[in-house]
Amino acid sequence: MVKVDLSGAKEFFKAAGPDYSMVAEAHRKLFEHTGEGSEYTGWVELPGRVLNSELKAIQACASKIRSNSQVLVVIGIGGSYLGARAAIELMRSPNYNLVKKETPDIFFMGNGLSASAINETIELIGERDFSVNVVSKSGGTLEPALSFRVFKSLLEKKYGALAKKRIIATTDERKGTLHDMAVAEGWERLVVPEDVGGRFSVLSAVGLLPMAVAGIDIEKILQCAVSEMHDLDLRSVENPAWLYAGARQHLYANGRAVEILASFEPSFRSMAEWWKQLFGESEGKNGIGIFPASVEYSADLHSMGQYIQDGPRRLMETVVSFENSDSSLKVPFELGDKDKLNYLAGREFGDISKIVAKAVAGAHIKGDVPNISLSVPRRNEEGFASLVCFFEMSCALSAYVSGVNPFNQPGVEAYKSNMFKLLGQE
Ligand code: PA5
Repeated sequence: MVKVDLSGAKEFFKAAGPDYSMVAEAHRKLFEHTGEGSEYTGWVELPGRVLNSELKAIQACASKIRSNSQVLVVIGIGGSYLGARAAIELMRSPNYNLVKKETPDIFFMGNGLSASAINETIELIGERDFSVNVVSKSGGTLEPALSFRVFKSLLEKKYGALAKKRIIATTDERKGTLHDMAVAEGWERLVVPEDVGGRFSVLSAVGLLPMAVAGIDIEKILQCAVSEMHDLDLRSVENPAWLYAGARQHLYANGRAVEILASFEPSFRSMAEWWKQLFGESEGKNGIGIFPASVEYSADLHSMGQYIQDGPRRLMETVVSFENSDSSLKVPFELGDKDKLNYLAGREFGDISKIVAKAVAGAHIKGDVPNISLSVPRRNEEGFASLVCFFEMSCALSAYVSGVNPFNQPGVEAYKSNMFKLLGQE
């Protein structure tokens, strides 16, 4: 389970601190499926369901892609790609496509409309064999649908009638444009469960197929997630999700309207993007909600550090760390000590980073920024499963405490209806 340390936040708590009776009530609603949006709470049981049903099909599909393709193009937006990207960067590498490996390169498309980004990806694929995984629960989102047209026609040009063997559609089991196209064309289909919203779908085929293609052990992720979800049903203040949800809602009620998620690991960058969508889309509605932002240290200490230390005092900071480093590097000794760094010679970069993190937290707390610390042992399947289950659970509890439905996103429709009107959709 994720360890939550509130020692850097407690001095900012007012009166009796977080109201855990409200978190308990939110927990009850979530598990009894009686809260708003309860028809989208299938993510709680999702890991066990996938483990016992679709896992083998996902693994078989991934091994086919690994054997016949040097590149996989994953087409999707929002919850239909962020989790997969986060997982691959966290557990494999933020430079996944550049590192030497036995598994295909993976490009994430359909999350924008930039012609240069699409053309560049086509150029990067070059003459290599590729497959396309198009992901859309609704099956009608414009950005991925347009990208899919482009990559589908590339496949058809290259492989003719065999192109359909290289398309995998991850979509609703029964309905939607993408579902209907897949059935008509005979593409392989994987499922986005009806009772799981996009931003809670990373542990379905949506996230698991790209992860498996990248060589990640998805069976292990699911097994860990089953036991995490079980442990997170603990109905007491020992529950880490209660601590996090309770603390952030209490701090929000006391003027902390912005939460910055920080990490010292570049491989966490896309995980922070996934977290921003999860919390932003779930909580920001009805005129309320904590604004989720993210920073990457040390880089951002020299860009956003000034603002965090000294700007308007409406921030809270949540720092995610990994207890054990998977890589070792010592500061070399240098004769003459011209750069005056020999006082650090022989010390591990990982240990220096931990000390810098401590210094940063201390300075920010002194600068009036409450600090919540989250940690897991490693950047592996277990650590990833713990973080995903913990954040999903905390998010649902926190949103229920604030009084909103965590599982809808009515605000996203506003841009869509304007867009379709301006584009002349009939
Ligand atoms: O969380 C959500 O529901 C959204 O962010 C969706 O994932 C996103 O809008 C993409 O939708 P779809 O998968 O239907 O194309």
